[in-house]
Amino acid sequence: MKKAIIFGTEQFGEILYHYLKDEKKYEICGFVVDSKYKDKDTFYNLPVVEFEKAHEIFNPDVYGMFICLGYAQMNKIRELKFKEAKDKGYEILSYYHPSAIVLSENIGEGNIIMEGSVIGPFCEIGDGNVFWPKSHIAHHTKIQNFNFFTISVAVAGNIIIRNNCFFGNNCTIKNGIEIRDKTLIGAGCYISKSTEEEGVYVPQRSIKLENKSSLDISL
Ligand SMILES: CC(C)(COP(=O)(O)OP(=O)(O)OC[C@H]1O[C@@H](n2cnc3c(N)ncnc32)[C@H](O)[C@@H]1OP(=O)(O)O)[C@@H](O)C(=O)NCCC(=O)NCCS
Repeated sequence: MKKAIIFGTEQFGEILYHYLKDEKKYEICGFVVDSKYKDKDTFYNLPVVEFEKAHEIFNPDVYGMFICLGYAQMNKIRELKFKEAKDKGYEILSYYHPSAIVLSENIGEGNIIMEGSVIGPFCEIGDGNVFWPKSHIAHHTKIQNFNFFTISVAVAGNIIIRNNCFFGNNCTIKNGIEIRDKTLIGAGCYISKSTEEEGVYVPQRSIKLENKSSLDISL
């Protein structure tokens, strides 16, 4: 069984550890965090080591690394740590939840594909992307690096997704368009045209009906 460590002790790292410990494909031997965020010595009875010193304790020739960092700064932090860990010699590991359906083979390294996600046929996926539960990427879509797809994102076919984008819960992306670098797509959006680099997209907000009580409405 391959030995591995997890970068991150926040909820993302905790969720991945929870899955990995039961699946028994990897022996998880510890966690790493940047020294300024180290607030404990152990997590789930495993050592928490400063990333700066990780290679002294977890030899990169022996241990692979899962990077469990979210979308802060448009995924830039995850990208930075991914590159630093590679420079230290670590293999950056990918995780596919057993319930994910992955029908494409052209997928890079360090991608995390959570429960119920679907990657359709003839897709191409780069490195360091995160697919939170039930993300659906249809056929022939090309995704570059360090994007974050949150719950129930629906990405149609033949789309190009560049780098460092964020897709909020339940957004829908029309087929055949391009999502340019660092696009932020809010929860519940329908994106029908190619986006602008660093653009922020939000849908109309729900309104509260004034002078109405839920008890006035017959369901
Ligand atoms: C897009 C998003 C990031 C915006 O963040 P937010 O904190 O809710 O921001 P606000 O609703 O305060 O809106 C930000 C600005 O956009 C404006 N705005 C929001 N919706 C708008 C709309 N429909 N039309 C016009 N302006 C709008 C607000 O007025 C505000 O402007 P201001 O700063 O000048 O006041 C947020 O709505 C979102 O979708 N987050 C992702 C949630 C998610 O999917 N999480 C997954 C976790 S796994």
